[in-house]
This record gives sequence, C-alpha cells and structure tokens, in this order.
Amino acid sequence: MTETLNIDISLVAESRINQFDPNNIVFGTIFTDHMLVADCINGVWQTPKIMPYGDISYNPALATLHYGQSIFEGMKAFKNDKDEVLMFRPLENFKRFNISAERMCMAQVPEEIFIGGLEELLKIDAAWVPKGEDNSLYLRPFMFASDVYLGVRPSLNYRFMIIMSPAGKYYSTPPKVKVETEFIRAAPGGVGYAKCAGNYAASLYPAKLAQEQGYTQLLWTDAIEHKYFEESGTMNVMFVKDGKLITPNTSTTILKGITRDTLLQLAKSMGIEVEERRVSVEEIISGIESGSVTEVFGAGTAVVVSPFAAIGFNGKDYVLPEITADSMSTRLKNALNDIRTGKVEDTFGWVW
Ligand code: COI
Repeated sequence: MTETLNIDISLVAESRINQFDPNNIVFGTIFTDHMLVADCINGVWQTPKIMPYGDISYNPALATLHYGQSIFEGMKAFKNDKDEVLMFRPLENFKRFNISAERMCMAQVPEEIFIGGLEELLKIDAAWVPKGEDNSLYLRPFMFASDVYLGVRPSLNYRFMIIMSPAGKYYSTPPKVKVETEFIRAAPGGVGYAKCAGNYAASLYPAKLAQEQGYTQLLWTDAIEHKYFEESGTMNVMFVKDGKLITPNTSTTILKGITRDTLLQLAKSMGIEVEERRVSVEEIISGIESGSVTEVFGAGTAVVVSPFAAIGFNGKDYVLPEITADSMSTRLKNALNDIRTGKVEDTFGWVW
C-alpha cells in the first residue's frame, strides 16, 4: 500500500461490463469503466481524478502531437482463487516510467499517483480483471506533454493517465520473425531503453515490410554492424542454447524488460545457467542448423513468453523445434503464471 492519496472520484452510472466476453478478448480493444487523469501544471501535480472512461479533447497545438514527448508502461493485474486482485512488480514499472520520463525531459510522476492511482482504479474496476489461462487486465499508465505551444522545448505541463484493458493471449500462433539488417530500432546514446511512443512508431514501417513478406515481426539487430541481436518487435528476446538461457545484455539500445528480468531470476532459481551477453546472428543461425539452439522466444508484458516458430535470415527460414511441455520457455512461463496468479507462494516478493 502506498500512502493515502486524495483522488476526486466520479463513477459511471452504469457499468459496461456486460459488453465484455472474457472468452473472446482481442488485445487493446475494450476498456474498463473508469480511467485516471492527473495533471502536472508548471511542476505541481494536481489532485488526480478517477472518472468514466471516455474521449478527451485537445487543442491542435498540443505539444505532444508535434514533438512526441510521450511515454507509457505496460503492466498486468490478475485474480487469485479468492478473487483478490494481484499486481505484478508494479514498483519496477513505476521506476522505469520515471527513467523514461527523465530521458524524454518530462516531469517525474510521484509514487502515490502512479501506484496509489493503480490501486484505487483496480479497486473500482476489479470486476474487469478476467480469470482464466492467459487472461489478465492489461494496465496502461502513460503521460504526454500538454502544453499548447509550437516552440521546441520541454513542455511545462504534462498529463498522466491510466487506462485498463482486459487481455488474453497476444499472439494466437507462434510468430515467424525476420532478422532485420537494414532498418534499426535504436542506436547507442538514443532512446531505445525508454518506453517512449516514438520507438514504437519508428518500428511500424520495417515491421510492415516484413509482414508483407509473410513474417509476424522483426528481430532487431545492432545499429552499427547488424551482427548482434537486440530485441524482437516489442519484446526482449531469449535463446536456449546447449540448455542455457541466453539473452542480450541491456544497454542504451535495449529496454530493461521486467518480464525479461523475472524470467532470468526464475531460471536461476530453477538451476538453469543464464548468460547475459552479446548474441550474434551467426551464433544463433548456425546453432539452429546444428541443433544446439533449441528455442528462441520473445519476453514482454503483453506477450509474456512467446516462442518463435522460425527465423528468417538472408532469404532463408530457419525452423525451430516444436515447443513441448518440457521446453524451457513453457516451464518458465508456467512458473511465472503460477506466481502472478497466486497459485504458488511468491518467495521473490513480486506480487502486490
Ligand atoms: C508490453 O509488453 O507492455 C509492451 O510494451 C507491448 C505493447 C506495446 C503492446
């Protein structure tokens, strides 16, 4: 619990929850009854408001529409067997949010607004947290520059908001990913480690080209030599080679994923050897050919653990072995799900 937060609350007259079918959830398409809005005016945070979810209107000169000072987080809430709502490692998202804010020269959000706001919103919209395998309530805190001004400088005013959306499985079939060797996601010294809107906008065109060639997503390589793996789509990427779990070490070009960190800690606790280091395309392609690389998967809040079916490189597809109940990605995903849905005791102190 964070310290008591003063929030102005206005509730919906009638919930829309009957319009929501927990057996048929399409990611990011339906939103809970309420949202949180907090404004920072000239460096001073105003009393947050919880209000009915709905449209917001803005002046066409809104700074964020022109210069992109905009950041977000992705988090999830679950229900345990007693119908209690659990958040997973929310403080990590809070810290990363303010790291992104610092890089984008935006206001820092106080913990009582970020965490306290999430807690209050989840209490009000608890009925929207779906149960069931792969289901969760996706939480989307975000902040944008709210100055009405066309000069290029950091905004003086910001709006922080939280919206929430029931989520199921992100990918319905295992993605086929293409190694990207022309476009880049991030460069050293840039904003790759920040969860800023522009990173996602810049990835859309290369991803669209790959999708036109039959791929689901991209496997990004480094900006300098295109020789080392960075991330995949909107996820961190992990490899199983000779029974070890290997993932690129984080840097200014790679997001410090909370799912990434969680899986590494879980793997260590399960006795799996873990390596965080540069991983070359050559190592993985030759490893798939020789059979030493047995799994490649994405790790992220939205996808959780998403094993890839095949990797496309230089016009050839390298097919990965089928995932089974014994695969490392399956065991890690199950271990993570068991903790965050309260099925097993959380010895890590991750569940809130
Ligand atoms: C997340 O996993 O929360 C992400 O950032 C992916 C999102 C852009 C859909």
